[in-house]
Amino acid sequence: SKTRHFKWEVGYVFRSPDCVERPVMGINGQFPGPTIRAKAGDTLHVELTNKLTTEGVVIHWHGIRQFGTPWADGTASISQCVINPEETFVYRFKVDKAGTYFYHGHYGMQRAAGLYGSLIVDVAEGEKEPFDYDGEFSLLLSDWWHQSVQEQEAGLSSVPFRWIGDPQSLLMNGRGQYNCSLASSFAVAGSNVTTGQGGPCRFLGHEDCAPQILSVLSNRTYRLRLASATSLHSLNFAVASHKLVVVEADGNYVQPFAVDDLDIYSGESYSVLLTTDQNPAANYFISAGVRGRHSNTTQALTILNYKPNPPLKSPTSPPPITPRWDDFDRSRQFSLKIRALVGRSPKPPRKSDRRIVLLNTQNTVDGVVRWSINNMSLALPATPYLGSIKYRLKHAFDGAPPPETFPENYNITRPPANLNSTIGNRVYQLRLNSTVDVVLQNANAMKENNSEIHPWHLHGHDFWVLGYGEGRFAAAEAEKHFNLDDPPSKNTAAVYPYGWTAVRFVADNPGVWAFHCHVESHLHMGMGSVFAEGVHRVGRIPGEAIACGLTARMKLAAAEDE
Ligand code: C2O
Ligand code: CU
Repeated sequence: SKTRHFKWEVGYVFRSPDCVERPVMGINGQFPGPTIRAKAGDTLHVELTNKLTTEGVVIHWHGIRQFGTPWADGTASISQCVINPEETFVYRFKVDKAGTYFYHGHYGMQRAAGLYGSLIVDVAEGEKEPFDYDGEFSLLLSDWWHQSVQEQEAGLSSVPFRWIGDPQSLLMNGRGQYNCSLASSFAVAGSNVTTGQGGPCRFLGHEDCAPQILSVLSNRTYRLRLASATSLHSLNFAVASHKLVVVEADGNYVQPFAVDDLDIYSGESYSVLLTTDQNPAANYFISAGVRGRHSNTTQALTILNYKPNPPLKSPTSPPPITPRWDDFDRSRQFSLKIRALVGRSPKPPRKSDRRIVLLNTQNTVDGVVRWSINNMSLALPATPYLGSIKYRLKHAFDGAPPPETFPENYNITRPPANLNSTIGNRVYQLRLNSTVDVVLQNANAMKENNSEIHPWHLHGHDFWVLGYGEGRFAAAEAEKHFNLDDPPSKNTAAVYPYGWTAVRFVADNPGVWAFHCHVESHLHMGMGSVFAEGVHRVGRIPGEAIACGLTARMKLAAAEDE
């Protein structure tokens, strides 16, 4: 294994991700940021300099567990202080497990500003994947607004609430088409679902918004690595006329299964195998469309190009049709197909030591719309938890334990009877090496008959997804149906409208870890929790990670004492 060095500068660049020019947060002038490719066991050394002149920044390595390096997790106010303009922070950590990952900003809403990129970890030298393929492509999916993140954020925290609305486009590897369509010749009167606005696209291929074409040979098998960094949307991915065999989810092998399309939530990644067994005289559409919300955002399209056809030759058949946005049964059915590849994936302990039930609600605090977990809406403290817990600093955050569950009489099928919630920053302290079950309980939002999908993501661990259910979680009944034989290991799992999702993990990674909804605006509005375990075992935290808030004062006081 080796150490791979990167020198990155984060700054705004003008780009036209969807053919409309806007400032985008880029790395070394690139958007999306550079793709990192490494082998399992390698150490990544990323020297990150903040060249934004009026904002701090941090980068989170989504799906990398950071064993022994919790300060490199890149979560503002949790694992480190933000990197101020002109400051440099070194992220140095091991990528211990092969898989498809990505990285993104984790301060404010910088992911929505375009701060993300792919992180691919190949198997270690001499190791083999449990499947074969002839070539591979990776597609990082995202959504994109023409309004700035500042405008979006101001709307979220104003009274009355102002919602930014649907993203203008969906991007694949940072490329989408807003004012033209690759499928305009398939236009159906009265439907903009597949064809978008504007006429046909005319690309030479070098434009920012020219689609990333996947050029393939006939009768081969390709691995497509998919990851979703969307800020809002749940997506459905499909390749016209081709089956997709799912083999990896969130950096873990799964029992292979074939589908025509798959749902992918923000924070998730998949590898699928595609065999080029269709008529080689044609090209085919690849699409990602919106699921889970009623949306005007047009599906993203690119082309599967059978060589030697011209790459931009229009497919002869129309793009795949995205399944109905509110067919949640279909979503659940897909989730249930994901099973661990027995023998290549760890098995869960049969029992857990503790169960935490987290009720997801939409509320208001002083008239501001917020999301809350067991009636606490997360607002992060000025001093990052990792340092304040390790050095036992008083008053860095509210030390009282947050509730383990929610009141018996809470009706999840109705808008909250009492809208008021409280802002808080309490932490779930987990006993090191204990087995913890977390049940995410969805509920009605503030509007009648409205409950949204929330993809929950855990830092520092993979969890086993033990089960999904509808309605209110009832332990005795639910446990009978828990999958303890081959539950998939994942780092992100959706909780469906009015339903619950149960996950299990072993708290074996000393550090402080975020657990939150991966919808950027939801997290920003308080939809998250914080777990801490074995922090006394954490090694020496790099000085720059704690050079703010009360930890900075502590260091100053120590220096003056000398
Ligand atoms: Cu990909 Cu805490 O996020
Ligand atoms: Cu959410």
